[in-house]
Amino acid sequence: MQKYIMSGFFFTACIVAIVLMFTLPGKEQVAEEAKPSMPEVVLDAASAETVVKSSCISCHGDQLQGGVGPNLEKIGSQMTPEEIYSLVSKGKGIMPAFKGKLKDEEIANVAQWLATKK
Ligand code: HEC
Repeated sequence: MQKYIMSGFFFTACIVAIVLMFTLPGKEQVAEEAKPSMPEVVLDAASAETVVKSSCISCHGDQLQGGVGPNLEKIGSQMTPEEIYSLVSKGKGIMPAFKGKLKDEEIANVAQWLATKK
């Protein structure tokens, strides 16, 4: 009799383990939240310039020459598109986070556009 009870416990434990395996966030998912992954977009320079004009030049200057924020004229030689995407999404220091204000695709497009500034 005890044997059946024990195997019953074992069976239940297995079910719980399997359910947990599928419901707990995986390691990759956690890593993704810490470093947002950039959606793939085809660079659209015109719309990137529109977004930059309305959201960024107040701090970075109308020619990206800098102001409150640093000069971005050569930012592409310092940062990858993914790094720019992550920084713009999350913000840094007094620079606001743009995630939620701009679409992820818009941020990705701007990041790719800025990355061409070398
Ligand atoms: C409120 C002012 C402000 C606005 C608006 C702003 N930024 Fe910034 N930005 C900053 C400041 C200040 C820094 C420097 C942050 C630090 O290093 O502490 C910065 C840093 C950056 C950097 C990193 C530069 C470097 O050399 O490290 C990038 C790239 C950048 N901003 C892009 C953008 C983009 C793209 C936008 C528009 C979507 C934007 N910023 C809007 C103030 C701003």
